[in-house]
Amino acid sequence: MTNSTTYRKIHVSASRSYDIIIGDGILATLGEQVQKLFGKCRLAMLTDSNVNALHGAKITEILTAAGYDVCKYVIPAGEESKSAENMLAFLNFMAENKLTRSDALIAFGGGVVGDLGGLSASLYLRGIPYIQVPTTLLAAVDSSVGGKTAIDIPAGKNLVGAFYQPHLVCCDTKLMDTLHPDIYRDGCAEVIKYGVILDAALYNKLQTPPFNRIDVVARCVEIKRDVVQEDEFDNGKRGLLNFGHTFGHAIEKLSNFTISHGSAVAKGMVIAARIAPLCGLAEIEKELTELLTHYGFNLDCPYTAEQMYEIILSDKKRRGGNLTLVLPHTLGDCHLVTMPVEEVLEKLKNVV
Ligand SMILES: NC(=O)c1ccc[n+]([C@@H]2O[C@H](COP(=O)([O-])OP(=O)(O)OC[C@H]3O[C@@H](n4cnc5c(N)ncnc54)[C@H](O)[C@@H]3O)[C@@H](O)[C@H]2O)c1
Repeated sequence: MTNSTTYRKIHVSASRSYDIIIGDGILATLGEQVQKLFGKCRLAMLTDSNVNALHGAKITEILTAAGYDVCKYVIPAGEESKSAENMLAFLNFMAENKLTRSDALIAFGGGVVGDLGGLSASLYLRGIPYIQVPTTLLAAVDSSVGGKTAIDIPAGKNLVGAFYQPHLVCCDTKLMDTLHPDIYRDGCAEVIKYGVILDAALYNKLQTPPFNRIDVVARCVEIKRDVVQEDEFDNGKRGLLNFGHTFGHAIEKLSNFTISHGSAVAKGMVIAARIAPLCGLAEIEKELTELLTHYGFNLDCPYTAEQMYEIILSDKKRRGGNLTLVLPHTLGDCHLVTMPVEEVLEKLKNVV
């Protein structure tokens, strides 16, 4: 690697093996990385309007300097863009540009671009290689790692997707300097989640923000890597990553997505922490609430148990009459607890 900045390399061994490289300024090495992986090829790049305006010229310059011909497709920023219409238009764009199976796709943006780009890569010509270049904290620690790709359809978020691992994740932590503080905070909810579910030392490190971004992103990625290697197709342990999400998704949906994902997950984690002692597990609500408040999260839940239950009934993680909740045992150790959905309602009535 020509760049001398401190960087981390984390290797993932899943249905495809690949590296995740993390560092300040690591984007400068992307051309070199693409050469190592694919040699001479053409590149399709998917990005969104914000990321393109802020960083589009830089990435194009880096790839062009390495000898690559890049055809760029820009979607409007925002969750609404993670649609079947945009995916079809992008697939058509790649076909019009005559990309072949020996070419590759780069998803340059947050989770929306990463999810849409990954699914497009899995479908175009029955699968072409792709590289994730995450630009939000959430995408860096979560969506760019692990190969879940998806689009939203009118019936719900992420209902159409595939497991399709990238060939490389190139995470330049410097790109996050331009994030709006609210978007950065959303990512912090996921970072805190990793501490609660699997790493008390990480949790403790987060007590005094701002945290060292490279160290913390790398630790979160290692945790996700370990979980994905054990349960790539989400039949068991991967469920732990869902901590706070069952209730968070319900809150997000009830608010008609005016409450952001990170804020909703923060509220959802507190609800799960309140339910834990009702199931004989530890009481961590006070500590968790203090930390989340310190990061600026509003933890009030504006909905009733019954309203949330209605949404939870259509949760895609529900199996028959049962739902598996992720409940904290102690900080750094969460359990998967399966119970009848009616019991979830009873518990919810006690805590919201
Ligand atoms: N595949 C997975 O495993 C997984 C996991 C978690 C979340 N997700 C998905 O990720 C999506 C949310 O991701 P997100 O929070 O990154 O949202 P996002 O992609 O919409 O990005 C949030 C906002 O930040 C802007 N932005 C991105 N990078 C920027 C930068 N460097 N500087 C300034 N602005 C920038 C974007 O334009 C957008 O307006 C959801 O669709 C969710 O379903 C997927």
